[in-house]
Amino acid sequence: MPAFAGHDRLNIPMLFTLAHLSDPHLAPLPEPRWQELINKRVTGYINWQRRRRFIHDPAVLAKIVADLQAHAPDHTAVTGDIANIGLAEEFVRGREWLESLGTPDTVTYIPGNHDAYVRAAVHDLERCWGDYMRDDDGAGGFPFVRRRGPLALIGLSTAVPTAWGLATGRLGKAQCARLGDTLAALARENIFRVVLIHHPPVSRARWYKLLTDSAQFLHVLSAHGAELVLHGHDHLHMINWLSGPNGTRVPAVGVPSASAAHGRAKNAAAYNLYRIDGMPGAWRCELISRGLDRAGEVAEQMRVTIYG
Ligand SMILES: [Fe+2]
Repeated sequence: MPAFAGHDRLNIPMLFTLAHLSDPHLAPLPEPRWQELINKRVTGYINWQRRRRFIHDPAVLAKIVADLQAHAPDHTAVTGDIANIGLAEEFVRGREWLESLGTPDTVTYIPGNHDAYVRAAVHDLERCWGDYMRDDDGAGGFPFVRRRGPLALIGLSTAVPTAWGLATGRLGKAQCARLGDTLAALARENIFRVVLIHHPPVSRARWYKLLTDSAQFLHVLSAHGAELVLHGHDHLHMINWLSGPNGTRVPAVGVPSASAAHGRAKNAAAYNLYRIDGMPGAWRCELISRGLDRAGEVAEQMRVTIYG
């Protein structure tokens, strides 16, 4: 059995802490130039002014991030939607926010539908945040793989520009095929595989918010498995146990938006900590969810044993 970076010199497994937050939707929205509103952004801008700006509170996000950093995770995964309508200035501010969270070595990002809101935003996404979304060898594209301690983080993109009124996501055949190959290869390494995806593989959301090729994604997981799938998008606490190979189950866990003010969304802001140790065939993984309480403080809300 190989020794992992997460084992000490006597090959005794050490605890690795992975933090997961999602959908920070940075506020306030920068003032758009009129040229930036001659497309789908117009409806997004109106939606922001009417509704979303009352939900996503930068003071709440700052509290969540401060609490997360006080817990000193070994690594932090962010599963999309830093931006709101994909304005150029949102990517500049998003870069500053990512850097405040950590370096590209300690933070992994994957994009959400609000980051790829329009075609023009896709270029800014790669240019401004690309080094948080790369393979260990520096290669871009999806899926990418990053090894940290006993983990392999597998980053996917479901972020494709869509028509007006749609918040759907899509992996595509090529990405699903590469994901299958990647999961199979990592399974042979006996490593704890964490798949990062913005859209939930299983959701009760309306049709215009769903992952359109979720059946293909579930098929890949049923063939090759994964130890954990982390997602955002629905802005809810979610746990679904998906089918893996040979009767195994794959936990898919979602978190609320990290900036959701109390009383303004179904679930107030929260983030999850995963404390992982053990070894292949005998992993231990505990989920600790911390979120905003009625008093506006961040406190533990739930503990779930995922493995062990
Ligand atoms: Fe979102």
